Amino acid sequence: MAVIYMDNNATTKVDPAVLEEMLPYFSEQYGNPSSMHTFGGKVGRVLTQARERVAAAFNCHPDEVIFNACGTEGDNTAIRSALASQPDKRHIVTTRVEHPAVLNLAKHLERKGYEATYLGVDEQGRLDLDELRDAIRHDTALVSVMYANNETGTVFPIQEVAQIAKERGALVHTDAVQVLGKIPFDLKTLPVDFLAVSGHKVHAPKGVGALFVRKGVQFRPFMLGGHQERGRRAGTENTTGIIGLGKACEIASANIAHENSVVKALRDRLEKGLMAAVPDTRVNGDPDNRLPNTTSLAFQYVEGESILLMLDAFGVCASSGSACTSGSLEPSHVLRAMGVPFTYAHGSIRFSLSRFNTEADVDVVIKELPPIIKRLREISPFGRGGQHQPADCTC
Ligand SMILES: Cc1ncc(COP(=O)(O)O)c(C=O)c1O
Repeated sequence: MAVIYMDNNATTKVDPAVLEEMLPYFSEQYGNPSSMHTFGGKVGRVLTQARERVAAAFNCHPDEVIFNACGTEGDNTAIRSALASQPDKRHIVTTRVEHPAVLNLAKHLERKGYEATYLGVDEQGRLDLDELRDAIRHDTALVSVMYANNETGTVFPIQEVAQIAKERGALVHTDAVQVLGKIPFDLKTLPVDFLAVSGHKVHAPKGVGALFVRKGVQFRPFMLGGHQERGRRAGTENTTGIIGLGKACEIASANIAHENSVVKALRDRLEKGLMAAVPDTRVNGDPDNRLPNTTSLAFQYVEGESILLMLDAFGVCASSGSACTSGSLEPSHVLRAMGVPFTYAHGSIRFSLSRFNTEADVDVVIKELPPIIKRLREISPFGRGGQHQPADCTC
């Protein structure tokens, strides 16, 4: 059975062109880029090219790019650096809908005596910029706001967020893990100090990421050891991963128009097809500012996990939008923050497409999913034929 992969916000397939660039560096050109000999030096030059490619995608200087292992590392490094470089400032501002890479660090920092303010979102997942203005204090070291949400695809107004933070004297970090290759950004005009991306979300392999640190911003490394990355991230470089990320960035920049026309049209076809075929369905997220590849659909009165299992039988890979993790009945923190009613939150499914999806993929889902929902609603205690109709609690 063919796999219909629509879980690209979780991870992506390595692009064959990316893999091809990487392959010689596993077994033929395996030198250490820090070595003095020519063999290692050759790899060093390829890393320089990869850094230039990433910098070109970001429109920043190559020296502003630090390679690391993943988006989580970039987020942690930025937040910790901002606090370590400003010891008199012990407050950060972030949002209630960040990825755990930011949220769990913020909670950890609170336990260590720092203070954190978590901005709320409205029912479409949007921020209130006045709330942000009010939250920034004289001792705010950093504002860390994600560029786009991984569950709903809602895109935050990072330009405005960064301007507000700068005016009030705070550093700014944005988690752009879901944005690279999906919407264009330009670090010459976007006034953030830190920006984190991850290779495996952009058709490069897992285990590589990059953190932009603006020139002139004080930086405190997270990893101490060797002098790699000009002393800013110790540890022998993941050369193959970095080469892959460089190539993936080059392809991502060339494909951004395709992403916002062809991939977006596929997403819209899927969304419209399902909305037309399944009553009591709604879209989670901001319809006007959304990643072009993402739709989070809430099917009332069904369990997301049951939908996923039944879709799996057709080879369809989607995600329950991180809802109901590991058997708990709690909907995801993002849907809770948005106040999505209980009966919708539990039936939320995220489809995230990529340039490797086809119209045929979309049409399989439009054909197979409506009968699945119908069947599940028939057997659901909360379904239309059921006895128990819970009040719509906003969890
Ligand atoms: C918005 C966001 N931030 C951070 C991460 C973490 O990235 P990584 O898996 O590379 O650590 C993810 C991954 O799901 C994400 O979606």
